[in-house]
Amino acid sequence: MSSERVDIHNFAAGPSPLPTPVLHKAAQSLLNYNGTGMGVCELSHRGKEFKAIVEGAEANLRTLLAIPDTHAVFFTQGGGTQQFSSTVLNLLSSHRLRKAAHGEKEFVPPTIDYVVTGSWSSKASAEAKRLVVPPVPGAQPFAKIHVAATTKPSGFNTLPAREQYEFSFKPDAKEEDSNTAFVYYCENETINGVEFPADADAHGAFPFDLVPAHIPIVADYSSSFISRPIPHVERHAVIYAGAQKNLGPAGTTVVIVRKDLLVDTTEASLLGNVPAVPIELEYKTLADNGSLYNTPPVFAIYVSALVLEYLLHEKGGIKGVTATNERKARKLYEALDRAEEKNVLKAKVKQLEARSWMNVTFEVVAKEGEDREKEFLAGAEKQGFRQIKGHRSIGGIRASLYNAVTEESVDALVQYIDEFVKAHA
Ligand SMILES: Cc1ncc(COP(=O)(O)O)c(C=O)c1O
Repeated sequence: MSSERVDIHNFAAGPSPLPTPVLHKAAQSLLNYNGTGMGVCELSHRGKEFKAIVEGAEANLRTLLAIPDTHAVFFTQGGGTQQFSSTVLNLLSSHRLRKAAHGEKEFVPPTIDYVVTGSWSSKASAEAKRLVVPPVPGAQPFAKIHVAATTKPSGFNTLPAREQYEFSFKPDAKEEDSNTAFVYYCENETINGVEFPADADAHGAFPFDLVPAHIPIVADYSSSFISRPIPHVERHAVIYAGAQKNLGPAGTTVVIVRKDLLVDTTEASLLGNVPAVPIELEYKTLADNGSLYNTPPVFAIYVSALVLEYLLHEKGGIKGVTATNERKARKLYEALDRAEEKNVLKAKVKQLEARSWMNVTFEVVAKEGEDREKEFLAGAEKQGFRQIKGHRSIGGIRASLYNAVTEESVDALVQYIDEFVKAHA
């Protein structure tokens, strides 16, 4: 049965491939889950079977990513895009309550600091701007949006250098003197192919040490989740990821939230000067109900649970996954560097530390009178490489190397690139 997939190398940016053994098990469970005679999508989400699935997924995720007990983990819906809104809504409420508890007399709109390194962090900051608009024209906004650093002038092909960050606070700011609701960054920009290096000392690493401990840090990990360990996982206030890249089918989103930030947003609303939070977006409600406040996306969560189990027990846990991902990315970037020497292909991201392990973006060097990109794509298609066209907003080629993309697929792509270079150098 698996032969259907053998000759195809799927490099999609998301939804993306899932491990074949997981899909076999999921297919079986759609018909008959664990001998119950009922499919997994036909079970009550409040029954003991589904509860065990969710709890198992959470436990395995905690192990894989070393998530501490200080943080809650839950599955929800709405994708990364919903989290662009949820992070703002929930953290403005918790900030408002904290300020009130510290005796703030008069409301002063807090600042939210965005680090903008690509299309997705741009979108997140645009959503924040929309949500903080005052309810009455001329009134104070709920917050001010501050761009602490941006690599837009580079075409989002680099990461900010440490000295380029201009946060709205000083690294030694005291809690009572600062009014920043949170700092936001996107760990891996799926479209542009830039990723913050995991090594805290590397050039371009996210400057955690410039953010005082009392200021929450929010990270979008949608396209690099469980591809390697999360640096400073405990230091984050919120980490979120849509499932459809490394974790499971589209339809569920994992959110990790520091427990002291799970607040009653109605209480914050009653103080005024914060946007109301729809109940389905309130982190406290979602966490308190163990991902089961309302009917969850049962199949997406079930397959995600299978993937987590598979990574932990069949792929060597996060250590094994990291080693494989490092090799896959290195092989492909090395091939692109060879191709660039011959002026045939070139990687879009030159800054080595900024190169994404998950989304490798590159261009086919144009030659007068020849449409070489078309030729590259046509040849790739013939050899079984699927979904490697770059995102429509920036063009070029993008090979996404998520966990379920095998090293054999990457080796095959490297071979194709080497042959293409040989033919065109
Ligand atoms: C890094 C990142 N953030 C957010 C999103 C938006 O996710 P969704 O389509 O699940 O809303 C994506 C989608 O590809 C993404 O790659």
